[in-house]
Amino acid sequence: MKILILNGPNLNLLGVREKSVYGSESFESYFEELKEAFPAMELSYFQSNTEGVLIDKLHEVGFSYKGIVFNGGAYTHTSLALSDAIKAIEASVIEVHISNVYARDAFRHKSMLAPFCKGVITGFGLESYRLALQYFERMKPKQIGFGSKK
Ligand code: DQA
Repeated sequence: MKILILNGPNLNLLGVREKSVYGSESFESYFEELKEAFPAMELSYFQSNTEGVLIDKLHEVGFSYKGIVFNGGAYTHTSLALSDAIKAIEASVIEVHISNVYARDAFRHKSMLAPFCKGVITGFGLESYRLALQYFERMKPKQIGFGSKK
């Protein structure tokens, strides 16, 4: 089962940026743990700080991969274009956040992406990504991706 983990703006700075909120581990190091924990999955990882590049990646994998674990960073709260891209593709998308966005500023309480995602996992630190992968691991293939959300 092909699954992409997609990280948006500023998430390349994990382990460096606001450690009290986002922790001190880099995503590259955590991704190695995830690959070991889910050996049966074909996991790949991509990060961009650019909205259009994230949209291109969603289009690229969205009709061939089963699932996408997507942390859109601040674009989560603002991007109609990313929202439309998620709506357009067939893969199931799970929105994840490291921090609990509902315990933070009011402008982080709104997600443009969530209405077109399978669900949202927020506030479990990097473990939010593992929880999303556990969902994909446990679901029968026909329950995810390829039209299951429409
Ligand atoms: C975030 C939460 C967003 O509000 C913020 O802009 C981020 C990271 C998270 O993972 O907690 O960049 O998506």
